[in-house]
Amino acid sequence: MTFLYKADPARGEQWARLFAQKAPELAFRVWPDVGDPATVRYLAAWMPPDDPTRTLPNLQVIFSVGAGIDQFDLSGVPAHVPVVRMIEPGIVEGMVEYVTQAVLTIHRDLFDYAGFQQKREWREMPVRAAASRRIGVLGLGVLGTAVLERLRLFGFPCAGWSRSERVIDGVDCHAGIDSLDAFLGRTDVLICLLPLTDATRGMLNARVFSALPQGASVINVGRGAHLDQEDLLAALVSGQLDSAILDVTEPEPLPADHPLWTHPRVRITPHIASATRPESAVDVVIENIRLHRAGLRMIGQVDRARGY
Ligand code: GLV
Repeated sequence: MTFLYKADPARGEQWARLFAQKAPELAFRVWPDVGDPATVRYLAAWMPPDDPTRTLPNLQVIFSVGAGIDQFDLSGVPAHVPVVRMIEPGIVEGMVEYVTQAVLTIHRDLFDYAGFQQKREWREMPVRAAASRRIGVLGLGVLGTAVLERLRLFGFPCAGWSRSERVIDGVDCHAGIDSLDAFLGRTDVLICLLPLTDATRGMLNARVFSALPQGASVINVGRGAHLDQEDLLAALVSGQLDSAILDVTEPEPLPADHPLWTHPRVRITPHIASATRPESAVDVVIENIRLHRAGLRMIGQVDRARGY
């Protein structure tokens, strides 16, 4: 029985070493070294091969090596083959770190101080209390929840918005499209951790920005396609938005002549906010194989109708 890995080959070698220790009964192979395709039961991929069940006729489960599965073409995956998103402690920790630094960059006025430094200007700004900076997270999955649970400890008033009802201790949770504007109206720093679906594509747009308080900031750690980049630039010019921190863009890489690169109130990182850590991810994948064999629902199993 084979476990096939189809993503970054260097990480594949790490997965192979961990699988050899932890699940020696599975033959582990790294794409394109597939061996006999009929023996492949499990596939972990960033991009599965086209028509995966024709290429791998006995495939039982497809694991994404990332938190998202929007890059998958699920139309070619039959309903009996479950698809699983990566939910593992390493990717959660990385995301909490990244979003915390982004929120603190905005909260502690580091965009302003970067400008002062360029001018060699020793200038103080009043320090605002965390209690006066309202944080809002779009998307209350495992990542959004973990981010809010950490940010709450700084004393920021925290709220979240998701499609369905959620309860998070100490967080004001809003659910459904009818409550979106109430959520936005109380949000000074908006963080996008939504899955990318047809319902969320382009959701960070002029309408949403206008529902935020004037001078709000946006952090996008979802997908580039969540954000309308033209609307963002317009909202920065008009002053409706103060600043933006983007870990994802559309396209990636962002073209060198794109105006977002040089905007003084925009910080860009190249999709590095978080990544799956093989040491912790392999344990989750092995546990999921056990759950699947027992006929149980796996951690991160995608609801095909919802798209995440
Ligand atoms: C990266 O963006 C991921 O989906 O893990």
